[in-house]
Parts: sequence; structure tokens; C-alpha cells
Amino acid sequence: MGWTMRLVTAALLLGLMMVVTGDEDENSPCAHEALLDEDTLFCQGLEVFYPELGSIGCKVVPDCNNYRQKITSWMEPIVKFPGAVDGATYILVMVDPDAPSRAEPRQRFWRHWLVTDIEGADLKKGKIQGQELSAYQAPSPPAHSGFHRYQFFVFLQEGKVISLLPKENKTRGSWKMDRFLNRFHLGEPEASTQFMTQNYQDSPTLQAPRGGASEPKHKTRRR
Ligand SMILES: *[C@@H]1O[C@H](CO)[C@@H](O)[C@H](O)[C@H]1NC(C)=O
Repeated sequence: MGWTMRLVTAALLLGLMMVVTGDEDENSPCAHEALLDEDTLFCQGLEVFYPELGSIGCKVVPDCNNYRQKITSWMEPIVKFPGAVDGATYILVMVDPDAPSRAEPRQRFWRHWLVTDIEGADLKKGKIQGQELSAYQAPSPPAHSGFHRYQFFVFLQEGKVISLLPKENKTRGSWKMDRFLNRFHLGEPEASTQFMTQNYQDSPTLQAPRGGASEPKHKTRRR
């Protein structure tokens, strides 16, 4: 091989190595994987941050740095609604619709957090301060139950006095969120988002974040 050929081969190899390394970076298990298809419909104007993890709204908690274990003991995240109006008050709801699993959500909804009387000026900055009707409970999906969705909603409170029925306050599971929303005439949320995670001991390998073919058939397809 002539000198020029060697140089060209070396350059090609170097280029190839760079391409391969670049690919590896993109597919690294620590990248925050985005949600897909109908799961993105909840991603509407609300931001959720855990300080060590960063922004997680509309993403899957990555299986690295023990994030899926750590999230089970972290304090409440920062929830920010940039579209919040000064002077208005809001309600924040966090639920898991996939209790105990997305395939068989017999205890839908699991109420993780419920805060009322949040000032618009605070919510805009991500400061959740108000009446805590249900204290924050960290996501802790059971082993072998697949990926769970953790959904966040913000409703306009408009001076209403919001409370849980004693029956609702007694337990977090099987919360009839629709009935709660109807009781206080809370219509559509002002903003929402969700993230997904699964039990940290479960296989990190390419299991579909949706937890398999468990979507009800009657669900309308994404437009
Ligand atoms: C019941 O109410 C108390 C007081 O507001 C609250 O701290 C607690 O988290 C509630 N329990 C549930 C399960 O929501």
C-alpha cells in the first residue's frame, strides 16, 4: 500500500469510528427516552423536574445512575406551568392510572399528590405551595408490573373550596378522579404532562414503555 492509500484508509477508519461513537452516545441508556404515540397527548404545557434528573415531563426515567431506584425516595419534583396567570389559583393533581399495572389497572387512579390554592405567580416559577390535601408520595411501581405512567394535571380553582371526602382521604388507591372533578365542576385541565418509569429491579432491556399490548381496543387512535 502506498503512503497516500494508507493515509486515506486511516482517515476513513477515523471517520467510521467517530460515526460509531456518535451512535453509541445517542443510544446510551442514560439518554432520556421520549414517550411515543398516544402517550404524548398528555404533554401539554406543564414541566416536571427532579433536581438530579432534570426535566422528565413526556419522557421515560432512564435506567442508569440508579435513577429508577432514586426516584422512589426523592422529594416532590418542581412542577412549573409557564402559562399560569398571576392572581389566579390552581389545583395540582398527580396520579398513577396504572395501579397495580397498566394491563390491569384495578386500582386506577392512585393519588400521589393533591395540592390546592396554588398561586399563579408561584406555579409559573415551579413553586408548589398551597393546601396539601394529599402529601406527595413518590412513584414506586411494584416489581414485574411494567411501566407506569405518572400524570400531572393543573386545574383552575377559581375560588372554589376543594376537599376530599373522608372516604377518599382514607386511601390513595381506586380514586374516582372523574367524580372528584365533577363534584367541583373542574373541567378540562389548564396543562398536563406525564412521565413513565418501572421498578428498578425489572429488566432494563427493550421492554416497550407501554408495557406491551395492553391498550384497550376501543381507544380512539391518535389523530
Ligand atoms: C388525608 O388528609 C391529611 C390532612 O389533610 C393529609 O395529610 C393526608 O395526606 C391525607 N391522606 C390521603 C391518603 O390523601
